Amino acid sequence: MQALYNMINMKIQIINGPNLNLLGKREPGIYGSSSFDDYLPQLRHQYPSVQIDYFQSNVEGELINKMQEVGFDYDGIVLNAGAYTHTSVALQDCIRSLKCPVIEVHISNVHKREEFRHKSLISCACLGVICGFGLDSYRLAVEGLLAVK
Ligand code: DQA
Repeated sequence: MQALYNMINMKIQIINGPNLNLLGKREPGIYGSSSFDDYLPQLRHQYPSVQIDYFQSNVEGELINKMQEVGFDYDGIVLNAGAYTHTSVALQDCIRSLKCPVIEVHISNVHKREEFRHKSLISCACLGVICGFGLDSYRLAVEGLLAVK
């Protein structure tokens, strides 16, 4: 265990917002049939020197609390804010307040979907945006954070 801790040189927090606890069950034609709990070990396995922590909440304020908790200490946040992406000034303000970069992620290509999903209130505060690659969007976001470290 000690050897593993010595290897870790980066800390990334993944945060999933509302309804993303239902991945695997929720609209599988759009979001796929894998749960996040099944996907996460594969992602961690690919980055043994990165500590990848995971948090999910359906509650907007809890997403903000988690970002404030890690955002001055971690190397980056991968945020899928779900539907709050399209509505939340509070999330935008929070992202702007943090020290670490935040990557906005979406599983689906929101620009191919309903018009209300084309507008993000958080993109302008994020380092970058990745969408449309299924769960692989999360890996691509981790790659982005590694690239800017
Ligand atoms: C989503 C896209 C959002 O528009 C939607 O509300 C979600 C999931 C995605 O990952 O594709 O909950 O963020």
